[in-house]
Amino acid sequence: MTKRITKAVIPAAGLGTRFLPATKAMPKEMLPVVDKPAIQYVVEEAVNAGLTDVLMITGRNKNALENHFDRVAELEASLEAKGDTAKLKKVNESTELADMHYVRQGDPLGLGHAVHRANMHVGDEPFAVLLGDDIIDARDELLTRMLDEQVKRDASIVALLEVDPDSIHLYGAAAVELTDDPDVVRITGLVEKPAKEVAPSNYAVIGRYVLKPEVFEILANTAPGKGGEIQLTDALMTMAGDVDGTGGVYGVVFRGRRYDTGDKLDYIKAVVQLASDRDDLGPELRPWLIEYAAGLQKD
Ligand code: UTP
Repeated sequence: MTKRITKAVIPAAGLGTRFLPATKAMPKEMLPVVDKPAIQYVVEEAVNAGLTDVLMITGRNKNALENHFDRVAELEASLEAKGDTAKLKKVNESTELADMHYVRQGDPLGLGHAVHRANMHVGDEPFAVLLGDDIIDARDELLTRMLDEQVKRDASIVALLEVDPDSIHLYGAAAVELTDDPDVVRITGLVEKPAKEVAPSNYAVIGRYVLKPEVFEILANTAPGKGGEIQLTDALMTMAGDVDGTGGVYGVVFRGRRYDTGDKLDYIKAVVQLASDRDDLGPELRPWLIEYAAGLQKD
Protein backbone atom coordinates (compact mmCIF):
# COMPACT_ATOMS: atom_id res chain seq x y z
CA MET A 1 0.00 0.00 0.00
CA THR A 2 1.25 3.54 -0.77
CA LYS A 3 2.31 5.46 2.33
CA ARG A 4 0.32 8.60 3.01
CA ILE A 5 2.24 11.84 2.38
CA THR A 6 2.78 13.75 5.63
CA LYS A 7 5.56 16.23 4.93
CA ALA A 8 5.23 19.78 3.65
CA VAL A 9 8.19 21.95 2.70
CA ILE A 10 7.70 25.72 2.69
CA PRO A 11 10.46 27.74 1.03
CA ALA A 12 10.52 31.18 2.64
CA ALA A 13 14.12 32.27 2.18
CA GLY A 14 13.71 34.64 -0.77
CA LEU A 15 14.80 38.25 -0.42
CA GLY A 16 11.37 39.73 -1.16
CA THR A 17 12.81 42.65 -3.09
CA ARG A 18 9.48 43.55 -4.71
CA PHE A 19 8.25 44.61 -1.29
CA LEU A 20 11.13 46.84 -0.20
CA PRO A 21 11.43 48.71 2.08
CA ALA A 22 8.82 46.70 4.08
CA THR A 23 11.00 43.61 3.73
CA LYS A 24 14.28 45.24 4.69
CA ALA A 25 14.20 43.78 8.21
CA MET A 26 11.06 41.60 8.04
CA PRO A 27 10.28 38.57 5.87
CA LYS A 28 7.57 39.17 3.27
CA GLU A 29 5.84 36.03 4.54
CA MET A 30 5.09 37.91 7.79
CA LEU A 31 3.10 40.66 6.05
CA PRO A 32 -0.39 40.59 7.58
CA VAL A 33 -3.24 39.54 5.32
CA VAL A 34 -6.06 41.15 7.33
CA ASP A 35 -4.87 40.00 10.78
CA LYS A 36 -2.78 36.88 10.12
CA PRO A 37 0.66 36.75 8.54
CA ALA A 38 0.60 35.26 5.03
CA ILE A 39 2.68 32.29 6.17
CA GLN A 40 0.03 31.18 8.67
CA TYR A 41 -2.53 30.75 5.89
CA VAL A 42 -0.01 28.54 4.07
CA VAL A 43 0.74 26.35 7.11
CA GLU A 44 -3.01 26.05 7.80
CA GLU A 45 -3.56 24.87 4.23
CA ALA A 46 -0.89 22.17 4.63
CA VAL A 47 -2.40 21.01 7.93
CA ASN A 48 -5.93 20.97 6.48
CA ALA A 49 -4.64 18.62 3.76
CA GLY A 50 -3.22 16.29 6.44
CA LEU A 51 0.40 17.46 6.23
CA THR A 52 1.32 17.96 9.87
CA ASP A 53 5.11 17.78 9.51
CA VAL A 54 6.20 21.17 8.17
CA LEU A 55 9.76 22.08 7.22
CA MET A 56 10.33 25.76 6.56
CA ILE A 57 13.35 26.86 4.54
CA THR A 58 14.41 30.18 6.04
CA GLY A 59 17.36 32.56 5.91
CA ARG A 60 18.83 35.63 7.53
CA ASN A 61 16.22 38.17 8.69
CA LYS A 62 13.70 35.36 9.06
CA ASN A 63 13.64 34.89 12.86
CA ALA A 64 10.14 36.35 13.03
CA LEU A 65 8.88 33.26 11.17
CA GLU A 66 10.13 30.87 13.85
CA ASN A 67 8.91 33.16 16.62
CA HIS A 68 5.42 33.25 15.13
CA PHE A 69 5.02 29.48 15.47
CA ASP A 70 6.54 29.33 18.98
CA ARG A 71 5.13 30.03 22.43
CA VAL A 72 5.29 33.57 23.77
CA ALA A 73 5.10 33.03 27.51
CA GLU A 74 4.88 36.66 28.65
CA LEU A 75 2.02 37.55 26.32
CA GLU A 76 0.16 34.32 27.14
CA ALA A 77 0.51 34.97 30.91
CA SER A 78 -0.69 38.55 30.55
CA LEU A 79 -3.77 37.55 28.51
CA GLU A 80 -4.51 34.71 30.93
CA ALA A 81 -4.30 37.06 33.92
CA LYS A 82 -6.81 39.36 32.20
CA GLY A 83 -9.06 36.41 31.38
CA ASP A 84 -8.98 37.40 27.68
CA THR A 85 -9.55 33.90 26.33
CA ALA A 86 -10.48 35.04 22.81
CA LYS A 87 -7.13 36.74 22.23
CA LEU A 88 -5.27 33.92 23.99
CA LYS A 89 -6.84 31.47 21.54
CA LYS A 90 -5.61 33.58 18.61
CA VAL A 91 -2.08 33.64 20.05
CA ASN A 92 -2.01 29.88 20.59
CA GLU A 93 -3.49 28.92 17.22
CA SER A 94 -0.23 29.21 15.31
CA THR A 95 1.79 27.52 18.08
CA GLU A 96 -0.35 24.41 18.08
CA LEU A 97 -0.87 24.06 14.33
CA ALA A 98 1.84 21.66 13.19
CA ASP A 99 5.10 19.94 14.00
CA MET A 100 7.38 22.74 12.77
CA HIS A 101 11.00 22.31 11.63
CA TYR A 102 13.41 24.84 10.19
CA VAL A 103 16.51 24.75 8.04
CA ARG A 104 18.39 27.75 6.72
CA GLN A 105 19.11 27.99 3.03
CA GLY A 106 22.44 29.80 3.45
CA ASP A 107 22.69 31.79 0.26
CA PRO A 108 19.38 32.33 -1.56
CA LEU A 109 20.53 30.62 -4.77
CA GLY A 110 17.02 30.02 -6.07
CA LEU A 111 13.85 28.04 -5.40
CA GLY A 112 15.43 24.79 -6.64
CA HIS A 113 18.30 25.24 -4.20
CA ALA A 114 15.84 25.96 -1.35
CA VAL A 115 13.89 22.76 -2.09
CA HIS A 116 17.12 20.74 -2.23
CA ARG A 117 17.85 21.85 1.36
CA ALA A 118 14.86 19.70 2.42
CA ASN A 119 16.52 16.46 1.27
CA MET A 120 17.81 15.38 4.69
CA HIS A 121 14.47 16.00 6.42
CA VAL A 122 12.24 14.51 3.73
CA GLY A 123 14.35 11.44 2.87
CA ASP A 124 13.03 9.00 0.28
CA GLU A 125 9.31 9.80 0.14
CA PRO A 126 7.00 12.06 -1.85
CA PHE A 127 6.37 15.47 -0.26
CA ALA A 128 4.49 18.69 -0.88
CA VAL A 129 6.02 22.11 -1.53
CA LEU A 130 3.98 25.23 -0.73
CA LEU A 131 5.47 28.63 -1.50
CA GLY A 132 5.32 30.83 1.57
CA ASP A 133 3.97 33.89 -0.22
CA ASP A 134 1.26 32.18 -2.27
CA ILE A 135 -2.18 31.88 -0.65
CA ILE A 136 -4.84 29.50 -1.94
CA ASP A 137 -8.29 30.43 -0.66
CA ALA A 138 -9.27 27.91 2.02
CA ARG A 139 -12.73 27.60 0.41
CA ASP A 140 -11.25 26.21 -2.83
CA GLU A 141 -9.77 22.70 -2.98
CA LEU A 142 -6.32 22.22 -4.46
CA LEU A 143 -3.71 20.47 -2.33
CA THR A 144 -5.83 17.44 -1.40
CA ARG A 145 -6.62 16.96 -5.09
CA MET A 146 -2.89 17.11 -5.93
CA LEU A 147 -2.03 14.59 -3.19
CA ASP A 148 -4.67 12.19 -4.57
CA GLU A 149 -3.32 12.55 -8.11
CA GLN A 150 0.24 11.90 -6.90
CA VAL A 151 -0.83 8.58 -5.40
CA LYS A 152 -3.00 7.66 -8.38
CA ARG A 153 -0.37 8.42 -11.04
CA ASP A 154 2.84 7.81 -9.05
CA ALA A 155 4.18 11.00 -10.66
CA SER A 156 5.11 14.51 -9.57
CA ILE A 157 2.27 17.03 -9.64
CA VAL A 158 2.27 20.80 -10.12
CA ALA A 159 -0.60 23.27 -9.79
CA LEU A 160 -1.53 25.20 -12.93
CA LEU A 161 -3.55 28.36 -13.35
CA GLU A 162 -4.77 29.69 -16.70
CA VAL A 163 -3.55 33.28 -16.85
CA ASP A 164 -3.94 36.15 -19.28
CA PRO A 165 -1.27 35.66 -22.03
CA ASP A 166 -0.02 39.17 -21.17
CA SER A 167 1.11 37.98 -17.73
CA ILE A 168 2.61 34.58 -18.61
CA HIS A 169 6.11 36.15 -18.55
CA LEU A 170 5.80 36.35 -14.75
CA TYR A 171 5.47 32.55 -14.33
CA GLY A 172 6.79 29.19 -15.39
CA ALA A 173 4.69 28.18 -18.42
CA ALA A 174 3.76 24.56 -19.21
CA ALA A 175 3.46 22.69 -22.50
CA VAL A 176 0.68 20.18 -21.90
CA GLU A 177 -1.16 17.17 -23.28
CA LEU A 178 -4.77 16.51 -22.33
CA THR A 179 -5.72 13.46 -20.25
CA ASP A 180 -9.14 11.85 -19.83
CA ASP A 181 -9.64 14.09 -16.76
CA PRO A 182 -10.55 17.72 -17.63
CA ASP A 183 -8.74 18.98 -14.50
CA VAL A 184 -5.49 17.09 -15.13
CA VAL A 185 -2.92 17.52 -17.93
CA ARG A 186 0.36 15.79 -18.65
CA ILE A 187 3.30 18.18 -18.71
CA THR A 188 5.58 17.75 -21.69
CA GLY A 189 7.70 20.87 -21.24
CA LEU A 190 8.22 23.90 -19.02
CA VAL A 191 9.74 27.33 -19.64
CA GLU A 192 10.60 29.73 -16.83
CA LYS A 193 9.17 33.26 -17.35
CA PRO A 194 8.83 33.12 -21.18
CA ALA A 195 7.99 36.08 -23.39
CA LYS A 196 4.33 35.94 -24.51
CA GLU A 197 5.36 35.12 -28.11
CA VAL A 198 7.29 31.96 -27.17
CA ALA A 199 5.17 30.72 -24.23
CA PRO A 200 4.02 27.12 -24.87
CA SER A 201 0.58 27.87 -23.35
CA ASN A 202 -1.07 30.20 -20.86
CA TYR A 203 -0.96 27.52 -18.15
CA ALA A 204 1.15 29.08 -15.39
CA VAL A 205 2.79 27.02 -12.65
CA ILE A 206 1.70 28.37 -9.25
CA GLY A 207 3.20 27.75 -5.81
CA ARG A 208 2.00 24.23 -5.00
CA TYR A 209 3.86 21.03 -5.91
CA VAL A 210 3.75 17.39 -4.83
CA LEU A 211 7.11 15.93 -5.73
CA LYS A 212 8.69 12.51 -5.87
CA PRO A 213 12.01 12.25 -4.01
CA GLU A 214 13.86 11.71 -7.32
CA VAL A 215 13.75 15.52 -7.57
CA PHE A 216 16.58 15.83 -5.02
CA GLU A 217 19.19 14.09 -7.14
CA ILE A 218 18.06 16.02 -10.19
CA LEU A 219 18.29 19.33 -8.31
CA ALA A 220 21.80 18.43 -7.13
CA ASN A 221 22.78 18.19 -10.81
CA THR A 222 20.83 21.21 -12.06
CA ALA A 223 23.03 24.13 -13.13
CA PRO A 224 21.93 27.72 -12.42
CA GLY A 225 19.38 28.80 -15.02
CA LYS A 226 17.33 31.95 -15.58
CA GLY A 227 18.56 34.83 -13.36
CA GLY A 228 21.59 32.76 -12.30
CA GLU A 229 19.35 30.84 -9.86
CA ILE A 230 18.90 27.09 -9.49
CA GLN A 231 15.38 26.76 -10.85
CA LEU A 232 12.85 24.18 -9.67
CA THR A 233 11.28 24.57 -13.13
CA ASP A 234 14.46 23.19 -14.76
CA ALA A 235 14.42 20.11 -12.49
CA LEU A 236 10.72 19.56 -13.26
CA MET A 237 11.53 19.83 -16.95
CA THR A 238 14.08 17.02 -16.55
CA MET A 239 11.49 14.93 -14.70
CA ALA A 240 8.86 15.56 -17.36
CA GLY A 241 11.29 14.22 -19.96
CA ASP A 242 12.20 11.09 -17.98
CA VAL A 243 8.87 9.34 -17.48
CA ASP A 244 10.50 5.90 -16.99
CA GLY A 245 12.90 7.11 -14.30
CA THR A 246 10.69 9.61 -12.44
CA GLY A 247 7.05 8.89 -13.34
CA GLY A 248 6.82 12.20 -15.22
CA VAL A 249 4.96 15.36 -14.23
CA TYR A 250 1.22 16.13 -14.30
CA GLY A 251 -0.59 19.40 -13.72
CA VAL A 252 -3.80 19.87 -11.74
CA VAL A 253 -5.66 22.86 -13.19
CA PHE A 254 -6.82 25.15 -10.39
CA ARG A 255 -9.89 27.27 -11.05
CA GLY A 256 -10.25 28.84 -7.61
CA ARG A 257 -8.98 31.94 -5.82
CA ARG A 258 -5.23 32.46 -5.40
CA TYR A 259 -3.33 35.44 -4.06
CA ASP A 260 0.37 36.13 -4.66
CA THR A 261 1.19 38.11 -1.52
CA GLY A 262 4.76 38.70 -2.75
CA ASP A 263 3.35 41.05 -5.39
CA LYS A 264 2.14 44.46 -4.18
CA LEU A 265 -1.04 44.71 -6.25
CA ASP A 266 -2.08 41.10 -5.58
CA TYR A 267 -1.36 41.60 -1.89
CA ILE A 268 -3.70 44.59 -1.72
CA LYS A 269 -6.41 42.64 -3.58
CA ALA A 270 -6.00 39.71 -1.16
CA VAL A 271 -6.47 41.92 1.89
CA VAL A 272 -9.57 43.60 0.42
CA GLN A 273 -11.17 40.36 -0.83
CA LEU A 274 -10.56 38.32 2.30
CA ALA A 275 -11.61 41.16 4.62
CA SER A 276 -14.81 41.88 2.71
CA ASP A 277 -15.77 38.18 2.89
CA ARG A 278 -15.36 38.08 6.68
CA ASP A 279 -18.31 38.25 9.03
CA ASP A 280 -16.56 40.61 11.46
CA LEU A 281 -15.34 43.13 8.86
CA GLY A 282 -17.42 42.57 5.70
CA PRO A 283 -20.70 44.23 6.80
CA GLU A 284 -18.90 47.57 7.34
CA LEU A 285 -16.24 47.22 4.64
CA ARG A 286 -18.52 46.25 1.71
CA PRO A 287 -20.75 49.38 1.71
CA TRP A 288 -17.62 51.54 2.11
CA LEU A 289 -15.98 49.80 -0.84
CA ILE A 290 -19.05 50.33 -3.03
CA GLU A 291 -19.12 54.03 -2.16
CA TYR A 292 -15.38 54.36 -2.72
CA ALA A 293 -15.59 52.60 -6.11
CA ALA A 294 -18.52 54.83 -7.16
CA GLY A 295 -16.34 57.84 -6.32
CA LEU A 296 -13.56 56.45 -8.52
CA GLN A 297 -15.96 56.06 -11.46
CA LYS A 298 -16.93 59.75 -11.25
CA ASP A 299 -13.25 60.89 -11.47
P1 UTP B 1 10.17 34.68 -5.44
O1 UTP B 1 10.97 34.94 -6.65
O2 UTP B 1 8.74 35.07 -5.41
O3 UTP B 1 10.81 35.30 -4.13
O4 UTP B 1 10.37 33.18 -5.03
P2 UTP B 1 11.79 36.45 -3.83
O5 UTP B 1 13.08 36.27 -4.56
O6 UTP B 1 11.84 36.50 -2.34
O7 UTP B 1 10.96 37.73 -4.30
P3 UTP B 1 11.37 39.07 -5.04
O8 UTP B 1 11.16 38.77 -6.50
O9 UTP B 1 12.77 39.44 -4.66
O10 UTP B 1 10.35 40.07 -4.51
C1 UTP B 1 9.30 32.27 -4.85
C2 UTP B 1 9.42 31.54 -3.52
O11 UTP B 1 10.66 30.89 -3.38
C3 UTP B 1 11.31 31.27 -2.19
C4 UTP B 1 10.70 32.60 -1.81
O12 UTP B 1 10.78 32.80 -0.41
C5 UTP B 1 9.28 32.45 -2.30
O13 UTP B 1 8.47 31.75 -1.37
N1 UTP B 1 12.76 31.33 -2.44
C6 UTP B 1 13.21 31.96 -3.55
C7 UTP B 1 13.63 30.74 -1.54
O14 UTP B 1 13.21 30.16 -0.51
N2 UTP B 1 14.97 30.80 -1.81
C8 UTP B 1 15.45 31.41 -2.91
O15 UTP B 1 16.69 31.41 -3.09
C9 UTP B 1 14.55 32.01 -3.80
